Amino acid sequence: MVKLERLRADHAEALLAFELENRAYFARSIPDRGDAYFAEFDALHQARLAEQDDGICHFHLVTDGEGTILGRVNLIDVEDGSAELGYRVGEQAAGRGVATAAVAEVCRVAGTAYGLTSLVAVTTLDNPASRAVLERNSFTFVEDIAVAGRPGVRYRRAHLGQPGTAGSKV
Ligand SMILES: CC(C)(COP(=O)(O)OP(=O)(O)OC[C@H]1O[C@@H](n2cnc3c(N)ncnc32)[C@H](O)[C@@H]1OP(=O)(O)O)[C@@H](O)C(=O)NCCC(=O)NCCS
Repeated sequence: MVKLERLRADHAEALLAFELENRAYFARSIPDRGDAYFAEFDALHQARLAEQDDGICHFHLVTDGEGTILGRVNLIDVEDGSAELGYRVGEQAAGRGVATAAVAEVCRVAGTAYGLTSLVAVTTLDNPASRAVLERNSFTFVEDIAVAGRPGVRYRRAHLGQPGTAGSKV
């Protein structure tokens, strides 16, 4: 099973360890966060929590239900009932349906607890796993775009708070 935990101050140490452990793995498919992110992690963590308190963002750890971090799923730039979805799953948990299940759950929470009506997401054409996660959660094509200089796609999903069409292995 996967469980979403809304980001808290006391997640800092475990979250930094997760990001460090998976830094090279993530950089194979998405832009690296850069050295400053790791050097100034505590201050950035506090800043993220302040944004969350202001309702601008909703950050979540994806855990195995026993506290081990499997990944992250975040909603950023909340505005007019919509937000941008982002997610990452660590190498140790890859390919087990974790991202699919976590995105399904964050869509539900977005439509219920957060009162959002739609989510958008962007990914690159050379990231088929990410595209699969979105399409299995009823995100649909909006437009072709460039993402960090690479060909990409923008997706959107409305009807949050309802199950997507995809099943989950988790
Ligand atoms: C993309 C990512 C989130 C997927 O996480 P995950 O937990 O492994 O994903 P899931 O297991 O839920 O589903 C991935 C699906 O893509 C499929 N997939 C994986 N690689 C694929 C490929 N090369 N071509 C086609 N499908 C692929 C998997 O087979 C799986 O489908 P299945 O369950 O039918 O087998 C994870 O690899 C990751 O964090 N990558 C780095 C960060 C990133 O790319 N984030 C997304 C930014 S938009």
